[in-house]
Amino acid sequence: MAQHSTQPAAYAPQVMARCSALGEISEEAGRLTRRFATPALEAAMLAAAAWMRGAGMTVRRDNIGNLIGRYEADRPGAKTLLLGSHLDTVRDAGRYDGPLGILVALACVQQLADSGTRLPFAIEIVAFADEEGVRYHTAYLGSKAFIGQFDAQLLASIDEDGISLSEAIRRAGGDPAALARDARASHDLLGYCEVHIEQGPVLEALDLPVGVVTSIAGQSRFALSFSGAAGHAGTVPMRLRHDALCAAAEFVLLTEALACETKGLVATVGQLWAAPGASNVIPGHVTLSLDVRHQDDGVRLAAIEYLRQQAADLAERRGVALEWEKVQENPCVPCDGALTAQLERAIEACGLRAHALPSGAGHDGAILASAMPIAMLFVRCAGGISHNPAESVREEDAAAAIEVLAAMLAGMARTRKEG
Ligand code: HGY
Ligand code: MN
Ligand code: MN
Repeated sequence: MAQHSTQPAAYAPQVMARCSALGEISEEAGRLTRRFATPALEAAMLAAAAWMRGAGMTVRRDNIGNLIGRYEADRPGAKTLLLGSHLDTVRDAGRYDGPLGILVALACVQQLADSGTRLPFAIEIVAFADEEGVRYHTAYLGSKAFIGQFDAQLLASIDEDGISLSEAIRRAGGDPAALARDARASHDLLGYCEVHIEQGPVLEALDLPVGVVTSIAGQSRFALSFSGAAGHAGTVPMRLRHDALCAAAEFVLLTEALACETKGLVATVGQLWAAPGASNVIPGHVTLSLDVRHQDDGVRLAAIEYLRQQAADLAERRGVALEWEKVQENPCVPCDGALTAQLERAIEACGLRAHALPSGAGHDGAILASAMPIAMLFVRCAGGISHNPAESVREEDAAAAIEVLAAMLAGMARTRKEG
């Protein structure tokens, strides 16, 4: 698509078209699923790499599978600003969660390249390889490896097909033994700014195209199981049963009740498997996931302790065994004040109100924040719907995001030139 105008908003149609193109790259027919280190993710990375090269960027891959595009500064030895988001998806995903952030950033670099502009800092755009954590249930594998925080013990994790994380990395062309060497030095980094759909209803309710993020909610993920006694559905009296699924069901509903009565708390059981899984057999074993989040870590941890105690009590009362394993835990992460102020000034320079709001969703920035300043720009999405194929973004809001990010880059360039 030949670019005629180099006005930032003129790149919005291309961003939307590319989100749609990536939305067709899936592991599954008929719906968008693009998990870590799968051929589908590889194909998406290749497409993004070609677009990055088309914007005058050099590109490289690291061993966990992240794609890193680089647009050089106007001088050697300059600092670097990181932009980007993730290219993996949940199951039956929408096409904007992740890709929009990468493609809005790429539009800004394309606009710089088309106008022959170099800034007093370099820009790197990272397409992270695993923000969602769908395949190995530990999110942020890409961003953790990027800043040298990858936990090598995870390499033995296996997915639902019995493929280990280290084997998956190898099959995708990476070397699991070299992950630690990939850590991006942070001494030259100005920070990380991610554009992402809001995945919530606030901006739409305020009729704002974009907003600035204050903090990323703390989140804890657990794997639970209830083990009772499988039995004949027709012969075991109700009072003699140790039904693992009824125990799990009681837990799911008390989890929901706690979250409904605790301000700002969200708790979700997103996965549940009952075994042996026959209609005439009392479920003897149930495994389920638990996801708990809050902007205040104290509230989140107290809620978890309450739920764990409730699970233990109901398991004892029902004569079933409980297993409760923490899969991962991330504290609430505040965005950096100075970098966020740059974003707010850019929003205002575009004639928009800079509404600040927290993120209930997790993002790679929550990991990067331990190594550099982070800021996030939220983009309105219809009905706040996400993690759902109905996820959608208006082209004019994508245009607003490009305008704001371009204004932020220009503002940072002015600040650095003025020294
Ligand atoms: O689960 C989350 O918050 C994010 O979408 N990974
Ligand atoms: Mn997501
Ligand atoms: Mn996301």
